Amino acid sequence: MPKKASTHSAIPVEKLDELQAAAELAELASLIAHHDRLYHSEDAPEISDAEYDALKRRNEIIEIRFPQLVRPDSPSRKVGAGAATGFKKVRHRVPMLSLNNAFSQEDVSGFLDSVRNFIKELQQDPGVPIEVVAEPKIDGLSCSLLYRKRRLVQGATRGNGEEGEDITANVMTLSEIPRILPGDAPELIEVRGEVYMTDEDFLKLNASQEATGGKIFANPRNAAAGSLRQLDPSITASRPLRFFGYAWGEVSRAFAETQWEARRCLSEWGFTLNEPSRLVRSLEEMLAYYEEIQAKRSRLGFSIDGVVYKLNRWDWQKRLGFISRAPRWAIAHKFPPERGQTRLKAISVQVGRTGSLTPVAELEPISVGGVLISRATLHNQDEIERKDIRVGDTVIIQRAGDVIPQVVEVVLSERSKDNQPFVFPTQCPVCGSRAIREPDEAVIRCTGGLVCPAQAAERMIHFASRDAFDIEGLGQKNIETFYREGLIQSPPDIFRLEERDGRKGVPLAEREGWGVVSARKLFDAIRRSRTLPLDRFIFALGIHQVGQATARLLARHYVALSQWEKSMKAAQDPQSEAYQDLLSISGIGPSMANDLLAFFAEKQNLQILEELSSMLTVTDYAASQIESPIAGKTVVFTGTLESMARSEAKARAEALGAKVLASVSKKTDYVVAGPGAGSKIRIAQQLGVKVLSEQEWLGIVRTVKAG
Ligand code: IVH
Repeated sequence: MPKKASTHSAIPVEKLDELQAAAELAELASLIAHHDRLYHSEDAPEISDAEYDALKRRNEIIEIRFPQLVRPDSPSRKVGAGAATGFKKVRHRVPMLSLNNAFSQEDVSGFLDSVRNFIKELQQDPGVPIEVVAEPKIDGLSCSLLYRKRRLVQGATRGNGEEGEDITANVMTLSEIPRILPGDAPELIEVRGEVYMTDEDFLKLNASQEATGGKIFANPRNAAAGSLRQLDPSITASRPLRFFGYAWGEVSRAFAETQWEARRCLSEWGFTLNEPSRLVRSLEEMLAYYEEIQAKRSRLGFSIDGVVYKLNRWDWQKRLGFISRAPRWAIAHKFPPERGQTRLKAISVQVGRTGSLTPVAELEPISVGGVLISRATLHNQDEIERKDIRVGDTVIIQRAGDVIPQVVEVVLSERSKDNQPFVFPTQCPVCGSRAIREPDEAVIRCTGGLVCPAQAAERMIHFASRDAFDIEGLGQKNIETFYREGLIQSPPDIFRLEERDGRKGVPLAEREGWGVVSARKLFDAIRRSRTLPLDRFIFALGIHQVGQATARLLARHYVALSQWEKSMKAAQDPQSEAYQDLLSISGIGPSMANDLLAFFAEKQNLQILEELSSMLTVTDYAASQIESPIAGKTVVFTGTLESMARSEAKARAEALGAKVLASVSKKTDYVVAGPGAGSKIRIAQQLGVKVLSEQEWLGIVRTVKAG
């Protein structure tokens, strides 16, 4: 049955309710996909281009009215059909400016002086007060909302002030942004203001992000920005964003004579204003306002970083105009970062999901700007040494917009002679494995990756991932659930999942979201993954710095799992031949070797390796890779090659399973010599190593296709 038109399309979009809209969007998605298929794949369209466009247009209008209903398979999101590959650019017809900053009373009084110097009437009569609107400076991101015929038609970010991003679909999801303005608003007006998140909503969002493994935001501003600039508006819709209106850009007619009146208009049109605001008339009143807001800062419920003073009279604003990117008629009076002094009780060390050890200051609780602080980050070992922070010290801590407080400095005059420098632990505080620091890195890392509970889930996600064990159905979500429930504590448990199924809690097949088929599929995928080549196995272990390429280098070099393990254990002694052998692999330097050896020095890791090798079939590298006459052979290139660059020749040889080294030794199988080759040929001849011309080499290589 060819589908022709939508059954609902008779209802005007403004009259649709949410249910009808959702149903119609679903229908439109399949209908448009159907016509796309007919048109593109079957060359047999059933409807005219105009009818097709009408369907797309209707879909678009419904989505604009119900942005929360935009479907993942929406025709508006399809590539090649106005794809959401990024945001469209929007040119601001009136540039979006920033503000000059004042940090002191002098700066504020300087601002008033400059206004007085600019406006002649004020110059002539110093008795005339300068009226100023004072309001909080919100720490969010500025946003422009364009209303045409009093309907919201466009939302844009500030961007570089001249050009921003089109976030219309996203702003439509904010309930605090009116879609329609009342009749007394100008025909055309661009309302500007700040999109932000309250402190409470921010903390809640982070808590839920943490629970679901989502991105953790550093502060409410980042959270607001990250939530607003989403290509998928349904994500924006799910975030608790708010909007304060405080300014405007293009307007079709003047709607107020003063800033204060304009604020009232904005409020009457349905915008929320940033309060508490005040109309003030002197430097003293401005500063009093500033002090009051600063004292209230932590109780406002949203983050602010100062106050803004704006000249009240609109005509004066116009006359003062702008200088570079900021208005002459307004200034931001910034707060100093909030600080407090307290005692450092202890330094604890936290282990992150990737194994990094972060020192944390445990403080005698203190209120900074109304927020009780008992911990602060110390970043890393260097930071502690640089600031010479010792347990027992009196320290100055700071909250600067960001939520995570920091230790600024030690009050040395109060240091007791007993306070000793902090000794960073050499063992992971969570699992007891050795903690090591790379020579050129600031972080100290736990080496117990596979066993450390702080990292286990993360490591196992890597272990099961596509380029490692490639266990379909064992992704982040399931691993985290199984880990939480104690079903999978370390990688070997993955291979015991089936035999243990049902012994702890409900069998998989009976769980929500699972069934007999999906459980079977997972067990099958796990069983299939039991046989894998050495390089994947090495990569799966998640050893620091050992990515796919390094894993391949190691596998190529050691060929068999048993050989690799034996060599790594032997290489613990830096005088050993095994250690020299490891370093001889091109692409493996001392820092990588260090990480590898650290992994093998950890008893718990060895135990896991042992368990894994008893349950798995790890196939030898070359055998599993490619059938090729040079698989496992060692090749040295020398001189200039004529048919390809040295790097390409090397890559091809490696793809065929050969090991490419830089210098000739007894173990070299072939030296491939191009014109200009020198000493290496001589050495090869002395050692009895076969020397090939480029043509001979190509002859061998061409007999096989890289796998
Ligand atoms: S007025 C022409 N008022 O601060 C002046 N801006 O540092 C336009 N901001 O880009 C801005 N609170 O994002 C104004 N009450 C307020 C504000 C405010 C925060 C932001 C705004 C601006 C930035 C400049």
